[in-house]
Amino acid sequence: MITQAIIPLAGLGTRMLPLTKAFPKELWPLGKTSILERVLKECDEAGIKEVFLVISKRKSIIKKYFDNDHELENKILNNKKAIKKINILKKYQKKIKFVYQNSAKGLGDAVNVCRKKIKSDHFLLILPDDIIIKKNCSRELVSIHKANKSSVVATKIVQKKDVDRYGILGFSKKNKSILDINKFVEKPKISLAPSKYAIIGRYILSKKIFKFLNKSKKGKHGEVQITDAMNELLISGEKFNGSIFKGSYLDCGTMDGYIESFNKIGNY
Ligand code: UTP
Repeated sequence: MITQAIIPLAGLGTRMLPLTKAFPKELWPLGKTSILERVLKECDEAGIKEVFLVISKRKSIIKKYFDNDHELENKILNNKKAIKKINILKKYQKKIKFVYQNSAKGLGDAVNVCRKKIKSDHFLLILPDDIIIKKNCSRELVSIHKANKSSVVATKIVQKKDVDRYGILGFSKKNKSILDINKFVEKPKISLAPSKYAIIGRYILSKKIFKFLNKSKKGKHGEVQITDAMNELLISGEKFNGSIFKGSYLDCGTMDGYIESFNKIGNY
């Protein structure tokens, strides 16, 4: 059973500067709610009981967002609508644990700081830059994991010109919307890409990944890359599936992507 999730939030958000300097992009609104709450709702509906939010000192405002504020709550006691919204945060607060990454050394390192917290064989990893609406992508991944006892990543085909922006997977077999993965390559040139299937920020990973993350050196762009450890996990015999997810994808990691996503989402 998948009951634990890691959501890394300790990145610098350099593509959205200066707006991310004091206010993390994960707390930005997307429609009527924040990007982070959307992802927490997805976790909740996928059966997750415990969520590790990886933050840094410079992003401690994320912790404050979930902290109790008795003064505020006393002042809005008779405002049922406002109380209802605060109660949603309280519901998430019960599941959340904050874990600190001292410096932004890369996604692989952000996952690795949670290594002692993960108790089950497999866990869910969600990157909030990638928002998927209309279908619960995490729930889809959980059911593939259940059926195949595999690690699973969400994937979609990207345009040739965008292949070098993503982790790309290679596969040996495709059965409807499920791929048997045999390779991961981080941000390859198109000439070296094994396919045009990009990894989108939803993963179910075996706990064994920590063995490889512990040994990981800095890879592409001077950061500890999760894809390097995923390759080693694959070579060690872990079965890996790709899930061509249903639902609609919104890119919230770039300024242009965020503006487009905000316009698309409306009241959804
Ligand atoms: P990105 O690689 O997109 O980095 O991280 P970023 O900091 O969010 O944004 P840019 O590239 O500088 O504009 C993907 C996810 O991993 C987290 C980020 O917060 C984001 O959710 N992350 C990244 C960490 O938690 N720690 C890191 O060291 C790097």
